[in-house]
Amino acid sequence: MRSLAVRLAVWYGGGIALVLLLLAGFLYAALDTYLTGQALTLLRAQALPLQRLAEQERTVADLRALTSQITERPAATGVGVFVLGPNAQLLAQSRQAAQQSLPEALIAQLRGLSRGKQEDVTKVNVNGQRFLLLYRPLPLGTRSGALVLSTSLEPVDATLSGFLRILAIGFGSTLLVTSLVVIFITRAKLRPLRDIAAKYRRLGEGDLAQRIDVDQPTTELHQLQESFNYMAQKLEESWHRQRQFAADASHELRTPLTSLAGYIDVLKKGAKNDAATLDRILDTMRGEVDRMTGLVRDLVSLARLDAGDDLRLRRVDLSRLVEDVYEQTKALAPEREVNLRSGEGAWVEVDVDRMRQVLLNLADNAIKYTPREAHINFAVQRYDSTVQVSVADNGPGISPADREHLFDRFYRAEQSRSREKGGAGLGLAIAKKIVEAHKGTIDVVSPAEGGSIFAIRLPLAS
Ligand SMILES: Nc1ncnc2c1ncn2[C@@H]1O[C@H](COP(=O)(O)OP(=O)(O)OP(=O)(O)O)[C@@H](O)[C@H]1O
Ligand SMILES: [Mg+2]
Repeated sequence: MRSLAVRLAVWYGGGIALVLLLLAGFLYAALDTYLTGQALTLLRAQALPLQRLAEQERTVADLRALTSQITERPAATGVGVFVLGPNAQLLAQSRQAAQQSLPEALIAQLRGLSRGKQEDVTKVNVNGQRFLLLYRPLPLGTRSGALVLSTSLEPVDATLSGFLRILAIGFGSTLLVTSLVVIFITRAKLRPLRDIAAKYRRLGEGDLAQRIDVDQPTTELHQLQESFNYMAQKLEESWHRQRQFAADASHELRTPLTSLAGYIDVLKKGAKNDAATLDRILDTMRGEVDRMTGLVRDLVSLARLDAGDDLRLRRVDLSRLVEDVYEQTKALAPEREVNLRSGEGAWVEVDVDRMRQVLLNLADNAIKYTPREAHINFAVQRYDSTVQVSVADNGPGISPADREHLFDRFYRAEQSRSREKGGAGLGLAIAKKIVEAHKGTIDVVSPAEGGSIFAIRLPLAS
């Protein structure tokens, strides 16, 4: 039983068969009772005048005359009449009774069983034929005898077996039709599922452009199809992002390598003989190596975050951490005006090294991308269940178009693409990853009066 359609057909078929079987059994028993009841009514109707005859002829001395009167009286078709003596011996039987050839012993036995009763009814089976027997006590002069009327139940059995045949035919065809209809409908209804399965397979084989035409929005199938499309789209986007990332990463790594190769060529061509030139070139080469080292470190950091590396969470006062970064920023840019506004006791659970990396990148950006005279302001603000750290500057600000992509990997705003400022565009992408790993958010706004504000919100430790 491979397919769901066949399985459903078997279950439905089984259920229907059970119901039909119960119904058929009930109908069969009801019809049997009804027809047997009719045969019994006939026997009772026949018995009555015969009993009366015996009562009227109470004075008749010759029992033989009475019994032959009873047995010779014309009875209804198929009804046999037996008269039994006081000791259950057969005194006389009608012609029809003789034709039924019921064993004498059986008739006698009936009297024995029914002793004392007014009436008894029984069904017997003789040589595969069913008979209905009615027993009634009968006064024979001063003694008591019995009257037994019999009729064959063959017509009843014939009707019942005909009925059974009709039931069987109806039963079989109902089952067959139901099963076929169930198989047909289920197959038709399951076709879209098979399509989805096929699309999944193709998706798995790498064809990420797979999409499904969505059905009526009311069906459950619709949800499945939509979620498939959603998943396929997300997979495709993620695949494109990965490729873009790999391309950007290799491009960023190639640039310093190309420039290093160029400087080596220049040195070989003789520049190394001039001490001052050699020194300058070596400094530049050192800068390129540093840049590459930084890039590789960032790439490793991103890869770790992508892989869901565990954070080394510690309970710390975020205000203290921001204070540290503030001091460090002042040391990095002594010519700048750097401010801090902070309260005490903003306790959070963070990976201190990573959170410091985030804040340092924000500070580094503020130094790199704003003119010397711009201020840098750190602020820590506590709310009910969160704390916000902001790093603001009054530099040139960031255009809305750039803001949209600022947290993308390798994204740099147009004006800061120049190599001498030097970032690869990974700092904010890493920051966002780290903050989100802490169940926080990071956003940027550029107020109308200019400058940029980067704000990080983190949940307070409970
Ligand atoms: N305070 C700021 N003012 C103006 N522009 C900014 C500011 N901070 C960031 N940016 C812009 O956002 C871009 C992305 O910053 P991000 O820190 O991600 O990369 P980066 O600094 O260029 O490189 P990295 O941090 O990897 O060394 C920067 O290139 C810059 O154009
Ligand atoms: Mg940066």
